[in-house]
Amino acid sequence: MEQIPFGSTATDMKLDVISEYLTQYKRVMHGAQAKQRRNGWRVWDTMYIDAFAGTGGRPLKKEDIENQDKLLETDESIEEFKVGSALRALTGKQSFDHYIFIEEKRKKLNELRERVSDHALAERCVFVQGDSNQKLVELCENTSWRDRRAVVFLDPFGNSVAWDTVEKIAQTRAIDLWYLFPSGNGVFRQISNLGRVTPESAKSLDRLFGTPDWRNEFVAEEVREGLFGHTVELVKAVTPESATDFMIKRMRSVFAGGVLDHTLPLGDLRHGYPLYSLIFAWANDGKRAGEIASGIAKSIIESRREKSGWLF
Ligand SMILES: C[S@@+](CC[C@H](N)C(=O)[O-])C[C@H]1O[C@@H](n2cnc3c(N)ncnc32)[C@H](O)[C@@H]1O
Repeated sequence: MEQIPFGSTATDMKLDVISEYLTQYKRVMHGAQAKQRRNGWRVWDTMYIDAFAGTGGRPLKKEDIENQDKLLETDESIEEFKVGSALRALTGKQSFDHYIFIEEKRKKLNELRERVSDHALAERCVFVQGDSNQKLVELCENTSWRDRRAVVFLDPFGNSVAWDTVEKIAQTRAIDLWYLFPSGNGVFRQISNLGRVTPESAKSLDRLFGTPDWRNEFVAEEVREGLFGHTVELVKAVTPESATDFMIKRMRSVFAGGVLDHTLPLGDLRHGYPLYSLIFAWANDGKRAGEIASGIAKSIIESRREKSGWLF
C-alpha cells in the first residue's frame, strides 16, 4: 500500500461535506439537463475535478482498527480502509459526465486507476499525473466553459495551491470550488509570536495569497514603554480565522459569483487551533445559480459547524 495512514474525524467530516454537495449538485444538474433536452437546447456537460486525488482512500490507523475490534464481536466487519474523495465522487444514483483525477505521485495515481478500473463509470474518468496547479491552469484555459459546469475539490496537505490557480478557476465562471484552505497549518503556524516569518515561509504565503499584503494584516507593531523610553516590537496578529477571512476577501475579488462567509474549521482539537478551513466559492455570476449553489453549501456547512468542535 503506497499511502501512509492519515486522517481523523475531521477528514470524515470534510469528505461528508463534499459528498453531500456533489449529491445535491448532481440532482440539480440532472434536472437542468432534462429541461434542456426537453426544450431542444444545448445540454450542459458536467465535470468533477479532484485535484489532489490520492489513491482513492486511506488505510485506517492501527489504533482505530483496534478500537473497532473492541466494539465488535467478530472481526468480520472491521474496516481497514476509508474511502476517499475520488471514489466517493463515483457513488450515488446520479453521476457527472466526466471525472478528472489529478495526482502528482504516479504510484498513487496508478493505485487509484486500479481501484476505478472495474467501476461502472470507469470510462468517464481521466487520470492526470502532475502538479495540480499546472494541470488546473491548463484545464481552465483550454476548456470551453460555455456549456460546461464543474465542481473542483482542492484537498492539499499544506500550501500547495497557488493563488494563480484559484484565480484561473474563478475566471471560468463555471466552476463551484471547495477549497480546504490551510488556515492554521499553512498560515498561522508559519508566523512566530514575535511576528517573524522565515524567507521560505514568506515566499509560500506570497504564492498562496498572490499578494504581499498579508504582511500588513498578519504582523503588527506594538509599542512598549520601558525605562529608557519606548520601543516598537513586532507581534503576531493572525489567527486561523483571520487568515481565512483574508483569503475569503482575496477570493471575492475574483469570483464573480461569490464566496460563502460560512466556512467549516477542521482539525484535531488537540492542536488548540483549526488546521484548515473548508471554503466554498462559486464562479458563475448568474443570480439563480448562485442562490442554489450557495444555499446548498451553506446548509451543509451549518449542519456541521457545531459538530466540528470549533465554536467561535
Ligand atoms: C490530503 S491528500 C488527498 C486525499 C484525497 N482527497 C482523499 O480523500 O483520499 C493530498 C494528495 O495530494 C497529492 N499532492 C500533493 N501536492 C500535489 C500537487 N502539487 N499536485 C497534485 N497532487 C498533489 C498528495 O500526493 C496526496 O495524495
